[in-house]
Amino acid sequence: MNESFENITVIKHPLVQDKLTTLRDKHTNNKNFKELVNEITLLLVYEATKNLVLTDKTVETPLETIQSKTLQGKQPVILPILRAGIGMVDGFSSLMPAALIGHIGLFRDEETLQPQRYYFKIPADSAERQFFICDPMLATGGTAVAAIDALKEKGVTQICLVCIVSSPEGVKVLHEHHPDVQIYTASLDRQLNENGYILPGLGDAGDRLFGTL
Ligand code: URA
Repeated sequence: MNESFENITVIKHPLVQDKLTTLRDKHTNNKNFKELVNEITLLLVYEATKNLVLTDKTVETPLETIQSKTLQGKQPVILPILRAGIGMVDGFSSLMPAALIGHIGLFRDEETLQPQRYYFKIPADSAERQFFICDPMLATGGTAVAAIDALKEKGVTQICLVCIVSSPEGVKVLHEHHPDVQIYTASLDRQLNENGYILPGLGDAGDRLFGTL
């Protein structure tokens, strides 16, 4: 697939790309895999939060009182898509320790092949908050679209998706359904295979994170 997408920001920072190479390596063990997911997430979050709105705050330094900047509004919400998204929460929390954490669980209905929600918990006042959905892999895009559908049903309007590896197919599907949602990723890979795995990818992110290979 040879297309350029507007809804995706690929973070090409050398540290991200170096860590991603080790993450892809099938010889990387489960402990190192987890640490790398954490570190890459932290670097992706740095970029994904660049448009958060600031407001002025008075602060007394030991020498003077000044107007300085602080984040405006309510704390953002991190929304991991179960199960692999859980592996990215620590990376987010390192940079945004006060952010709230929601959860969404989806499974694929074997008859309709559509994602079905089995768990969804977010703060009551979510409509006023910025959401960061996280899932290491954006493959077919089905679960990401379903997670965004769920948020929009609750009135959430500020949503972005942070994933480590994306497929062109998933990015296209996401753009068709939710063109307002920006994707922050470390890589736009080549394609999906017939089983919905990303090529070259890194295999099953959940299994590699949690050692359930
Ligand atoms: N989920 C994964 O964990 N890996 C893929 O390649 C695709 C979906």
